[in-house]
Amino acid sequence: MYAQEAQQPLLEFRNVQKRFGGLLVTNDVSFAVYPGEILFIIGPNGAGKTTLFNLATGFIAPDAGEILFAGRSLRGLKPYQIARLGIGRTFQIVKPLANLTVLENVMLGAFAHTSAKAAARQEALEILEFTGLADRRDMLAGALTLAGRKRLEIARALATRPRLILLDEVVAGLTPTEAVETMALFKRLSERGVTAIGGIEHVMRVVMEISHRVMVIHHGQKIAEGTPREVTSHPDVIAAYLGSQMEV
Ligand SMILES: Nc1ncnc2c1ncn2[C@@H]1O[C@H](COP(=O)(O)OP(=O)(O)OP(=O)(O)O)[C@@H](O)[C@H]1O
Ligand SMILES: [Mg+2]
Repeated sequence: MYAQEAQQPLLEFRNVQKRFGGLLVTNDVSFAVYPGEILFIIGPNGAGKTTLFNLATGFIAPDAGEILFAGRSLRGLKPYQIARLGIGRTFQIVKPLANLTVLENVMLGAFAHTSAKAAARQEALEILEFTGLADRRDMLAGALTLAGRKRLEIARALATRPRLILLDEVVAGLTPTEAVETMALFKRLSERGVTAIGGIEHVMRVVMEISHRVMVIHHGQKIAEGTPREVTSHPDVIAAYLGSQMEV
């Protein structure tokens, strides 16, 4: 499916550092994701997962280090410029435009690369089919369930035609069945040629089944990286989750 060493990373962090006041929230983090991969960034509450997503999408700038997309430095680029290069994202707090329909929300994503309404509609309809939202296309986004809103976020991000998609806490608050369905969608994303990075608090079984690799961060630092099986048996990972219930 993908051959890491043979390819240039799609996204690469090189010794990235970010401080908020006195707090080092990203501490010398290096990692790479390769085309076609599904990588999960796992870490307890406040570990710095969302911060990594904000760094990769230009919402915040690193204090040190380099972030590259397809070999190109993202230094100094604004979020909309990075989005245009091909990085899409969803947000931990889902905020679709509640007074627009599901279809209109996804069309907004498509307008990132086309100004033709018919083309945007066509593409949005195809994506709604892909994300399992087709039957809810005329509903107001605000009327969707949480699972539906999360799905809509993915649909809207997909409509921008990203090469890489960053999905922050896509299963938080979902029922186990909804979480399994969302993970199946993740898998189909990679079949569609989209590389995906997910952020999640716990190493859940559904994550283990679909991830090619996982990376664990704790207090802003990478403490383990490997297959889900490797990291869940890593002593530093077990220690990081001590006192909380790690679901494996
Ligand atoms: N804009 C900000 N200003 C100051 N501190 C911040 C800011 N954003 C995040 N932090 C702090 O940085 C640390 C990492 O936060 P981050 O949101 O990246 O963690 P997370 O792993 O996504 O957590 P969660 O599991 O709660 O989503 C936390 O201590 C947080 O309080
Ligand atoms: Mg977060």
